[in-house]
Amino acid sequence: MSTLKHIAIIMDGNGRWATKRSLPRILGHQQGIKAVRDVVKACAIRGIKTLTLFAFSSENKNRSAKEVSWLFKLFLGALKQEVKKLNKHNIRLKIIGNMSLFPTKIQQTALDAQALLASNTGLTLVIAANYGGQWDIVQATAKVAQAAVAGDIKASDINVENFSQYLSLANEPNVDLLIRTSGELRISNFLLWDIAYSEFYFTETLWPDFNEAELNKAVDNFNQRNRRYGE
Ligand code: IPE
Ligand code: IPE
Ligand code: MG
Repeated sequence: MSTLKHIAIIMDGNGRWATKRSLPRILGHQQGIKAVRDVVKACAIRGIKTLTLFAFSSENKNRSAKEVSWLFKLFLGALKQEVKKLNKHNIRLKIIGNMSLFPTKIQQTALDAQALLASNTGLTLVIAANYGGQWDIVQATAKVAQAAVAGDIKASDINVENFSQYLSLANEPNVDLLIRTSGELRISNFLLWDIAYSEFYFTETLWPDFNEAELNKAVDNFNQRNRRYGE
């Protein structure tokens, strides 16, 4: 059995959860925040090192202006509301993605929350917001190119190890388990580089219905996998 250090989740199905109940999509997103709380707590208790949650993809900004502004509002509200509790549980927060898209108020709240929680030593909670796996590889490549131009690294010395230090998840353990809810069997431009040897778990459960018991099912399933790494 390999140890489980890093879980990443594509939290999908909020809209369908609401539509099934004839509710506006935003109520599905609101309910999804409850599932986030449950799963963060369960991971902290289990001693997981890193939990990376896909909250908003680079493509999600193409949704209706109304839905996008609601999602921003919910994100800001949750950040403000949860930061004290995260601190109490010794949780560190890291937000990855191109935050420049977000209203300045959200950017500032995100910076403040990360600073407040920076020295915590328990679970690292990574929130991917306006994140795209392709964007991540491109921004890392731009930094490596800059370092090469500045003479800090030779092009011929670039390798998998030092390149990965420029990615958003540098310094985090490899993603062991990638979960996607709602029955879709795709990555949707979430982590690309970082899932090279992750185990995948797909469930039909919609994200607002996901909870500790669902997480336990995914972990039990992971524990039965035989990871061979090509050997
Ligand atoms: C996931 O739920 C949350 C975000 C992408 C922000 P969706 O909003 O994609 O819900 P479905 O997939 O339409 O049901
Ligand atoms: C992926 O879900 C993004 C998040 C869960 C934040 P989407 O609902 O945006 O993905 P597609 O459109 O089904 O591929
Ligand atoms: Mg979706």
